Amino acid sequence: MCGIIGYTGKNSALAPLIDGLRKLEYRGYDSAGIALPVEIGQPLYIEKRAGKLKNLEDVLINTPNSTSGIGHTRWATHGGPTDTNAHPHLDNEGKLAVIHNGIIENYVQLRAELEKRGHKFKSETDTESVVHLLSDARKEHNGDLAASMRSVCKQIKGSFTLLAMHSDAPAHIVGARRNSPLVVGIGKGENFLASDVAAFISHTKIALELGQDEVVEITPSSVVVTDLSGQIVNAKQYEISWDASAAERGGFSHFMLKEIYEQPKAIADTLIGRADGLNLNIKFKKFEKIVIIACGTAYNAGLVGKYAIEKWGQIPVDVELASEYRYREPSLNKKTLVIAISQSGETMDTLMALRYAKSKGATILSVCNTNGSTIGRESDSTLYTHAGPEIAVASTKAFATQLIAMYLIGLEIGKKLGHLNKNQVISINEQLTQLPAKVEQVLETVEPLRELTRKFKDAQSILFLGRHVGYPTALEGALKLKELAYMHAEGFAGGELKHGPIALIDKGTPVVAIMPTQDSVLAEKMASNIQEVRARGAVVIAISEFDFAGADHLIRIPNVDLLLQPILSVVPLQVLAYEMAVARGNDVDQPRNLAKSVTVE
Ligand code: AGP
Repeated sequence: MCGIIGYTGKNSALAPLIDGLRKLEYRGYDSAGIALPVEIGQPLYIEKRAGKLKNLEDVLINTPNSTSGIGHTRWATHGGPTDTNAHPHLDNEGKLAVIHNGIIENYVQLRAELEKRGHKFKSETDTESVVHLLSDARKEHNGDLAASMRSVCKQIKGSFTLLAMHSDAPAHIVGARRNSPLVVGIGKGENFLASDVAAFISHTKIALELGQDEVVEITPSSVVVTDLSGQIVNAKQYEISWDASAAERGGFSHFMLKEIYEQPKAIADTLIGRADGLNLNIKFKKFEKIVIIACGTAYNAGLVGKYAIEKWGQIPVDVELASEYRYREPSLNKKTLVIAISQSGETMDTLMALRYAKSKGATILSVCNTNGSTIGRESDSTLYTHAGPEIAVASTKAFATQLIAMYLIGLEIGKKLGHLNKNQVISINEQLTQLPAKVEQVLETVEPLRELTRKFKDAQSILFLGRHVGYPTALEGALKLKELAYMHAEGFAGGELKHGPIALIDKGTPVVAIMPTQDSVLAEKMASNIQEVRARGAVVIAISEFDFAGADHLIRIPNVDLLLQPILSVVPLQVLAYEMAVARGNDVDQPRNLAKSVTVE
């Protein structure tokens, strides 16, 4: 969950480093720092500050000119967000600098050994062990930084993306990755290393994928990739499919608001070319069970997927929290299809659960929004969503496209296994193609939510109720409010309320109820749930496709098949959470304590 960038080229490094860190700040913003080689063989220039990138920029005055450098923005794991714990970390001569994303699991043992060898540590971080290991390795490898990095990678356990540079060879930057993302940007007379293509896309759209346990060396005119034995690896080059402007805010006050309004386009783009099938090299006939693994919002999308896949595909589906799944030693085998949902394609919990399932013989289908991501690379097949870059930490358009992916997979299975006839397939496809326009309609009706936000912004807690696919939607609405407004919120299955949670209802408790479609038997049941809570003083906001008179406030959405309703009913919940965050003065795009991609377990 840290942002990493390295630049070496013909221009001053400072601008691309700071611009890259700005694009990566969503990955973590507890501290930021840069290191620049100024004179060959002399100590590096280094500046690093706790807090947001701005704190670092404020002190970058009269920065020496350098045409290479490395930069880091941190999400703290070991050691608090302080100047000393900020990256880069230096060796005792100040000539070697390292930045890191991930966790070095054996850093305590390494540090003890290195201190015995006389290395002086300054920080509390796991990362600092690496710079001292590298310093010793350089001595054994005659200053060859890449060979030293390969040696060090064999000594460290855990997940890492590492960048290192030494003032003896100022134009040379070495990187390595295991489980954490690292991508190469190939420019003209300049090259980049970064956690995410967003860091350099305004300079080049040509990227290189790096595999597990690979080491990359860049200079302004060369890129060399090797495995840990030193063998050259022919890394796969690709062109990034979106442009730099997509990563800009485009006039919206926050990336999150922009991405809420991009949902119609993201849905349409994810549907393009898929009405006749998904071209997945997966033989669905052989599976007896499907297990969906994911975290957070992606998990909520999986819960909706369960309804669609079981109804259309008629295969039993379990939805599992990735962080829990492998630790309960679940029974799975080659007749199990595991679907891993991950926007970033780098979430460590999901990646580790995927690897566990693979080791048991399961087939892996992933749903990712990021090309070249680790989860995509390690799957048997990947269905890419086309939401474009999602910069805000709170997931909105990615969620919408994950739902679309779930519907498409359910449809594909239903077709392949013969449970859906031609007319049913045509009808479902028609309804899917109508969704972008229907989301546009919802976006035109969310104004009342701004008024409601002012009414509820100081509430202690807000409850969300839903039934059927409305239940995962309620969970998603609660998650959005938690992560944006820092407000307690909880999602319930409507039928569960009377089994305990209704005791939470007090006079004035705000409750958001997602009404099932009017033709569903569940509409009456939800109406009863709403009466039960209103009778105890709750103030109810209903999200409904029909004129439901039983609530205090009504947010209308267009009619759509019950299974597809989450695509529409989640939008008001996203807007409510957004408005609450703004009203409470929170940092909407970078909420406290969070990061966009959780690449540690
Ligand atoms: C949701 O708003 C959060 N950003 C978080 O729950 C996220 O969905 C989760 O960390 C999974 O991320 P992924 O889709 O990149 O794997």
